[in-house]
Amino acid sequence: REVAKYTMPLAVPPVMPPLAGQGEPVDRYAIGVRRLRQRILPRGHPPTTVWGYGAVQDPRTFASPGFTVEAIAGRPVRVKWSNELVDDDGGYLPHLLPVDPTLHWADPEGGPTGRDRHPGPRQTPGHYGGPVPLVTHLHGGHSADHSDGFPEAWYLPRAGNTPAGYATEGSWYAEFAARYAAAHGGSWSPGSAVFHYRNDQRAATMWYHDHALGITRLNTYAGLAGFYLLRGGPADLPPGVLPGPAPSAGDGGRGPYHEIPIVIQDRSFAADGALFYPGGRAFFDHFHGPYVPRSDIPPIWNPEFFGTAMMVNGRTWPFLEVEPRRFRFRFLNGCNGRVLDLKIVTDPLARRPAPAALPFWHIGSEGGFLPAPVELGRVLIAPAERADVIVDFTGVRPGTELYLINEGPDGAFNGDPHAAPADPSTTGQVMKFVVRDARGPDPSVPPDRLTLPPLTRLGPAGRTRRLALLERDSTVVRGAGPTAVLLGTVDGRGKPSSRMWSDPITENPVVGATEVWEIHNFTPDAHPIHVHEIMFHVLDRRRFDGGPRPPEPWERGYKDTVIAYPHQITRIVAHFDRAGLFVWHCHLLEHEDNEMMRPYRVGT
Ligand code: C2O
Ligand code: CU
Repeated sequence: REVAKYTMPLAVPPVMPPLAGQGEPVDRYAIGVRRLRQRILPRGHPPTTVWGYGAVQDPRTFASPGFTVEAIAGRPVRVKWSNELVDDDGGYLPHLLPVDPTLHWADPEGGPTGRDRHPGPRQTPGHYGGPVPLVTHLHGGHSADHSDGFPEAWYLPRAGNTPAGYATEGSWYAEFAARYAAAHGGSWSPGSAVFHYRNDQRAATMWYHDHALGITRLNTYAGLAGFYLLRGGPADLPPGVLPGPAPSAGDGGRGPYHEIPIVIQDRSFAADGALFYPGGRAFFDHFHGPYVPRSDIPPIWNPEFFGTAMMVNGRTWPFLEVEPRRFRFRFLNGCNGRVLDLKIVTDPLARRPAPAALPFWHIGSEGGFLPAPVELGRVLIAPAERADVIVDFTGVRPGTELYLINEGPDGAFNGDPHAAPADPSTTGQVMKFVVRDARGPDPSVPPDRLTLPPLTRLGPAGRTRRLALLERDSTVVRGAGPTAVLLGTVDGRGKPSSRMWSDPITENPVVGATEVWEIHNFTPDAHPIHVHEIMFHVLDRRRFDGGPRPPEPWERGYKDTVIAYPHQITRIVAHFDRAGLFVWHCHLLEHEDNEMMRPYRVGT
């Protein structure tokens, strides 16, 4: 059934309410995860069951995406994250989506950390029906490791009906909780984790999302993501220079908003409104029985997910009324596997590539502001990347309708944005802007006259690491596509070797080191590579057989995620200033969940 577009207004996520203040030098939150029903599709369609984050003291705050955490540079935030995926009787809720038990995952029936287990043809028949492990990661955060959301530091809900043999009281978070307690005091209770964010970093657009090992793609798809905006400090601009957020954080969502965080996610739906996520590969349709016998192919996992509908801030194809003035949009690609190439046009069905009607002024990326604004007709943004932009509607006649379209592919991204543009009638459209009359003056500085805060470059690097992006194909069934996507290292002769999540750590910078990481992509697809804990600069890219190319103009600030193109070497430089156990990985969530993630350690 066709889904009508542009019938629902864009939802602006309200501010996450903190716990009542106690005059402490820290903002405290209690944020839970609950199941809820939400109107994602327009009227005439049933509401959709999702998982959402919310402030536990107010059940009305649970939503997907979660409400926005507003943080101030230099002022710490402490969050008690709790897993409340239980029903009214206190029994655990099963997963909303099919779990692949043959991957290396946060299996509550597994060993103490899962590290002793390897992925392989376990071929457990039927779907996993136990309690759901969760752990939240602050993406872009400069966190201590006990608060980073390490994928094995997950915790289950406190449920009354948990079968024997499941990790219940002994959450794997307990190991990290001991480290947390040593650093911050306090105790840990099952069903939750207390994380501390120092906010000792540049003002930036961050986000929080689930990160449990091997099921991140499912937990995030079910709804577990939200914005975390860090403001203030020397790397921010004074209020009023840029189009601003609603006048007060507690305005109850009335606005007017001239600064709006926008998360774009592709989704598919069943006829009853339920979220649809494939429970197997189309490839398996040719076979009988639940799984291919003696196959080395994970039976449920798909190499990437591409939805059929575009969801923006939790609603499909919304519209936004704007005034003829400047707006600041903080775009986040929250898709599992889809690279977006955004443009503002007058005709959403125009032939691709379509002519841009208004430019984007790029002012920031993952690590805050760029050195200077960059005017471009498009925003190319891979999963987990952020693009902080100004769109100037000044002079646009009231009554005008403009469309945000997507010219990225309906499938894997090989680096050519125009190879197979998304279907113009569905995923090739994102949202609509309707220009109304001005409601007041626009005091913000025009982007071509804007001076952005200074950006210090990193010093010389002491060491270079050569890292590999790889794929592994089935040795049993020909032509089945990848069975896993892998990270590894490259030796002095350019030869890669792959490593599994459970293999010993190979990336181990000393505390205080500045290092260059060379990412050699041996696969046919682009991968957005994310490193936890640090922000990096992109140095350059080159083909295996070519000379270096500088980063794109919108990649000249601090970043935490970078597109590594096929058959190219992407070089980044970072300063590793905090000891601990972190991860680096591909942010295509299907890849991350099937071995395209490695632990790394700073210090000993
Ligand atoms: Cu957005 Cu390791 O995550
Ligand atoms: Cu990948």
